[in-house]
Amino acid sequence: MPKLKIEGIGEFEVIAGTRLVNALEDNGGEPLHRCGGNARCTTCRVEFLEGEPEHMTEAEKTKLEDKKDSLGQFRLSCQCTVDHDMHVKVLMPFSESGFDDPGPRPADHVTP
Ligand code: FES
Repeated sequence: MPKLKIEGIGEFEVIAGTRLVNALEDNGGEPLHRCGGNARCTTCRVEFLEGEPEHMTEAEKTKLEDKKDSLGQFRLSCQCTVDHDMHVKVLMPFSESGFDDPGPRPADHVTP
């Protein structure tokens, strides 16, 4: 199983193919996911310290290109799956957000 290291939290084994946003949620990473994992809100953003996926969904690419200066700055954890070892930093953790909840839980598979 691939290893997911969450900066400041710890290292975890994750079932290959797990959606990154949900793997973060289930292991105390506290990601926001205000749009429910549909590449619309960008609150699930992460910085890859190691193991950034080469593949980018069309939805993520379009969103990051639309949002000024975002491409190359961060990735959307709702658009990535854990299929190899990775080390990430959650950039907008729920506990620092001021929101009442992190947002609806994203589906198990990447959407839209
Ligand atoms: S862009 Fe909204 S949860 Fe990922």
